[in-house]
Amino acid sequence: MNFEYAAAPESRSVVKIDPVYGHFINGKWVPGSAHFNTINPATEEVLSSISLGSAADVDAAVKAARNAFDKSWSKLSGRERGKYLFRIARIMQERAREFAVLETLDNGKPIRESRDVDVPLSAAHFFYHAGWADKLEYAGVDITTAPHGVVGQIIPWNFPLLMLAWKIAPALATGNTVVLKPAETTSLTALLFAQVCQQAGLPDGVVNIVTGDGSTGSAIVNHPGIDKIAFTGSTEVGKLIARAVAPTNKSLTLELGGKGANIVFGDAAIDETVEGIVNGIFFNQGHVCCAGSRLILQESVADEVLEKLKRRMDKIRVGDPLDKNTDLGAINSAEQLAKIRELTAAGEAEGAGRWSANCTLPENGFWFAPTIFTGVTQAHRIAREEIFGPVLSVLTFRTPAEAIEKANNTPFGLSAGIWSEKGSNILWASQQLRAGVIWANTFNKFDPASPFGGYKESGWGREGGRHGLSAYLKGSAK
Ligand code: NAI
Ligand code: MG
Repeated sequence: MNFEYAAAPESRSVVKIDPVYGHFINGKWVPGSAHFNTINPATEEVLSSISLGSAADVDAAVKAARNAFDKSWSKLSGRERGKYLFRIARIMQERAREFAVLETLDNGKPIRESRDVDVPLSAAHFFYHAGWADKLEYAGVDITTAPHGVVGQIIPWNFPLLMLAWKIAPALATGNTVVLKPAETTSLTALLFAQVCQQAGLPDGVVNIVTGDGSTGSAIVNHPGIDKIAFTGSTEVGKLIARAVAPTNKSLTLELGGKGANIVFGDAAIDETVEGIVNGIFFNQGHVCCAGSRLILQESVADEVLEKLKRRMDKIRVGDPLDKNTDLGAINSAEQLAKIRELTAAGEAEGAGRWSANCTLPENGFWFAPTIFTGVTQAHRIAREEIFGPVLSVLTFRTPAEAIEKANNTPFGLSAGIWSEKGSNILWASQQLRAGVIWANTFNKFDPASPFGGYKESGWGREGGRHGLSAYLKGSAK
């Protein structure tokens, strides 16, 4: 028997959205000179007007960050810095509901995910790094404990608050000051975080938030007063940034795209595996750089897995992101929806078999039904390019060596998954896979203590854990 779920919408009354926002520079709100709208992608309702940061705004933020670094932040002991980080983490927990609702409104992700994943993990990153602030000399990384100085950070729209936490927490723990730019479609939780910095009494200028688009990001990358750039986003923009930074003394970390292989061996526990496949590709609408977007099935179980997967996909609840029962929310923007449509059309044109879950999509807003492609070959665009949406490409293999060959046949190398009951399979395969993060019999698990990052076009450097700290400290090599 099937039970229907009654709608259980989370109230949005907990958040207060201003009609217009300025930049957060030197601890104050500074009005911008030009503005753009941020919308709720589930309804296309305009939420607020956001300032478009100019080169002058970036310059003011860099000066504030430099002044804060010289006069206050670099003079504090690690223990004192840690106190501020603990305070920020606790305030984020206290205001968790506000952050979760705001993130869901601005991004389109289900409240269940913003409430249970994004916000608690963001607070956890601040707690984790608060603990390191006075223990850097014991982190066991091959670096000095001196910070770079002023760090420029540019983040994407798929995990707006979480990516902010990944960037700001280690930077502050190690004694750097920050100029951060959120993505143009998802600025609101970064602006709420600025209020948290004020509430925590963080010295002025330690964290500066300049909103804007690629031109604002470019002004940060090219500003001579910045000592290090940390970027998360597309490989295309990552390459532009690498070129811009190459002739300078800036240090650089890049966390870019992926095309994760999720390999299912014939001996895997099929029901658990199907849950893991769903979590691997449909979590956060598939807007996940480490998504398991290529399912690589052993032929002996391919039919069974696909049948169970389709049955499970028909049960995915797509719709109102504020509804606590929703599994799959809105696509973040019209541009991203167009990209997903373009790549899935290419999949069909190139001859792969398309199947979409039977669900009704809302009329307004940006939506895409959970979709799989079977009969995918390695030459197909949907096997090579990052779709960054709820779309899974399925390939098959006969021998373990063939699985590895297919999994590694990609310009990316961020994540991979292995499903098998045999420890020896898991250990063998994980040693062959060229991916920064490898999950076994699970997928998309994150922890602040675990370093995250990629090989090849997935980026440079690691974030999180002790390895992530080293990116914010000076080394003997650049
Ligand atoms: P994007 O790389 O253009 O945007 C990411 C951030 O970079 C945003 O804050 C943006 O304003 C900024 N930016 C854009 N151009 C810049 C420039 N020239 N200099 C400095 N900063 C710049 O990503 P976009 O266009 O939003 O998404 C395109 C594709 O990128 C997605 O479909 C997906 O495949 C991939 N992507 C990967 C992400 C990841 O987590 N690795 C996150 C977002 C997108
Ligand atoms: Mg872009």
